[in-house]
Amino acid sequence: MVKLTINGKSHQIDVESNTPLLWVLREQVGLTGTKYGCGIAQCGACTVHLDGKAVRSCAIPVSAAAGKRITTIEGLATGAVLHKVQQAWLDHDVPQCGYCQTGMIMAVAALLAEKPRPTDADINASITNICRCGTFQQVREAIHAAAKA
Ligand code: FES
Ligand code: FES
Repeated sequence: MVKLTINGKSHQIDVESNTPLLWVLREQVGLTGTKYGCGIAQCGACTVHLDGKAVRSCAIPVSAAAGKRITTIEGLATGAVLHKVQQAWLDHDVPQCGYCQTGMIMAVAALLAEKPRPTDADINASITNICRCGTFQQVREAIHAAAKA
């Protein structure tokens, strides 16, 4: 049994301690906004926050998330008010198919929390998520817009 705090709510989950956090979020808790892409910590589709830091949940055993604040895309907005990264994504029409985008948004939200005005070099170093639709230029524009919001 693992006790998790996800988007401010407590959950007791009956699962093996080495189960990837991604599977617990999607299968046990039903938070399917976090996506499975590669399963080997390469693509970033599964990015969530642990105590505010971006992590790739396919490569984190659920036991490592116990006792930490887990935030998923479903918990990023404050009530009806979108997070500034979500708003910038809408304003700049970033998503194409959308599959990678929750991971992108979570990675960017963590970056801006740490570096409110990231340079292009900061973005290149931190946002290594893969987008098969090639939205990288729109992502960059939206990051700079969110940083000014
Ligand atoms: S699914 Fe986790 S990094 Fe690709
Ligand atoms: S928007 Fe389609 S994979 Fe990124």
